[in-house]
Amino acid sequence: MKKVGFIGWRGMVGSVLMERMKEENDFAHFESYFFSTSQAGEDAPKMANSCGKLLSANDPKELLKMDVLLSCQGGDYTNEIFPKLRNDGWKGIWIDAASALRMKDDAILVLDPVNRDLIQKNIAAGGKNFIGANCTVSLMLIALHGLFKENLVEWVSSMTYQAASGAGAKNMIELLDQMKTVGNSFANGPAKEALELEKQMNAVMASNEFPKANFGHPLALNVLPWIDSEMPSGQSKEEWKAQVEANKILQTATTVPVDGTCVRVGALRCHSQGLTIKLKKSVAPKTVEELISRANPWVDLVPNNKPETLKHLTPAAITGTLRVPIGRVRPMTLGDTFFNAFTCGDQLLWGAAEPLRCVLRMVV
Ligand code: HSE
Repeated sequence: MKKVGFIGWRGMVGSVLMERMKEENDFAHFESYFFSTSQAGEDAPKMANSCGKLLSANDPKELLKMDVLLSCQGGDYTNEIFPKLRNDGWKGIWIDAASALRMKDDAILVLDPVNRDLIQKNIAAGGKNFIGANCTVSLMLIALHGLFKENLVEWVSSMTYQAASGAGAKNMIELLDQMKTVGNSFANGPAKEALELEKQMNAVMASNEFPKANFGHPLALNVLPWIDSEMPSGQSKEEWKAQVEANKILQTATTVPVDGTCVRVGALRCHSQGLTIKLKKSVAPKTVEELISRANPWVDLVPNNKPETLKHLTPAAITGTLRVPIGRVRPMTLGDTFFNAFTCGDQLLWGAAEPLRCVLRMVV
């Protein structure tokens, strides 16, 4: 049995990964070793074939003994430890949720429903570095897989509605704190008209006491149209990732442009995206729907009507599931090669943990 070491398994993505691995009985297929940056020597979680104590995630000697290392610890850890292990001659397989290595030539971006063949070929060819892609990109590609498979997409513009979870666990809690602060000041005040309340809530949001240490701004009752750092192109880094990562996952011969505005909204863990899809040629709406709906086992086409859209195509409807619904699929008035669509997906499942789980099963 291969020795698999887990790092960052207690964080949010790591916890979702552990739950999924238990559900799928993955631990039966390898020996598991749990690493910690701060609690080495304490009891490790009890899984099938797991070792008893936590090992130090900062001790290369222990890490070098592993056949596979899977890290959800974050980019700083990857940047520090990964080059040391390779310099020490470690030939094991590195699986990572962080973005640090995504653009390296020898890194494969893993998204099982979309590029399983590529992953398999790379494993067979001795590939060693398998990295999870950006959540928004992964969820968009699962939804639009059928159109990309047929090489029909000329470009995509993606306007995102990204949940607080994408910014981290502390941010999720901060969003709820912000909502509580707003809710309390509303509940404690005397009955007022809507416009008076709006003024009062804005004053609450602008006050120094409003909890915003993590987002830096109110997200409750607000939207934040900038995610991640600034790029020289004028894009946010989150927007920049869409094109480079989508094309790397798909291994496109010529770049398919993907661009849009990424926006943080007050959803908890599901990202949504409004898509404008420019096709290379005119395709009947029925064919577009069929291609989308049969592309992979996870995509669900939601008929373009109000009741089904509002029931099935929202963060609230799909949170905690592996389904990736796409709906509002219709030709646009912009021209007969333009289609509109809207899609949602759980940012922590197919957006983060599940592609890592799938590649781990493949390598062991
Ligand atoms: N960067 C994403 C976000 C999450 O901020 O929502 C991770 O892919």
